[in-house]
Amino acid sequence: MRIDILTLFPNMFIGFLQESIIKRALEKKIIEINIVNFRDFSKLNNSQVDDTPYGGGSGMVLMVEPLVEAIESLKTKESKVILMCPQGKTYTEKKAYQLREETHLILVCGHYEGFDERIREFVDEEISIGDYILTGGEIPAMAIVDSVVRLVDGVIKKESYEEESFTNNLLDYPTYTKPREFGGLKVPDVLLSGNHEEIKNWRKKEQIKKTEKKRKDLMS
Ligand SMILES: C[S@@+](CC[C@H](N)C(=O)[O-])C[C@H]1O[C@@H](n2cnc3c(N)ncnc32)[C@H](O)[C@@H]1O
Repeated sequence: MRIDILTLFPNMFIGFLQESIIKRALEKKIIEINIVNFRDFSKLNNSQVDDTPYGGGSGMVLMVEPLVEAIESLKTKESKVILMCPQGKTYTEKKAYQLREETHLILVCGHYEGFDERIREFVDEEISIGDYILTGGEIPAMAIVDSVVRLVDGVIKKESYEEESFTNNLLDYPTYTKPREFGGLKVPDVLLSGNHEEIKNWRKKEQIKKTEKKRKDLMS
């Protein structure tokens, strides 16, 4: 899978690409990630990419032309172009599973007051990571890349994500590690029993109990 990220702030991705699972996936060449500064596609003086809004109002608006130039320079028949936008559809684990099937993602990060509305004619979809406003689309793009890449074959073990929260519409089961007792709080006996069938059943029951208590909406 190849992912191109269009941004005005490429340095924000330095740490993100150089640590942990993403770093390993890049090293193993399971994925390729390119950070593209769309300022490079401006034809104006001083590489300008934003301007004041028509009709007045606060903040600067990202111009459509440099963004479209950047998108068109990267796009192939297989590309899916996604706008990071608080007005888009809210991102979910189900969406992450859909995106892992793609061969080429182009993620477009906004900033300032947002995009010239006409950009919407040049993208396939808009994704929001939640009902709150961030200063830019870089953190949403990282959230999407992180959640998709871990699901790509060969990046982490299948068992590591198949029973996680939101898979099968349930939250994850409770997990414990050493010590067996901490401040009077004990690890449930069943987990020390060595009986794999009982452990499996207990975990399933706990998943259902937890989801009913914390996120009943997932089960409907
Ligand atoms: C300050 S926001 C602009 C918000 C815009 N004026 C609005 O009210 O819809 C700047 C950019 O950050 C990104 N952004 C902010 N919050 C986001 C969210 N919840 N999900 C996805 N992208 C977001 C988008 O790329 C957006 O264009």
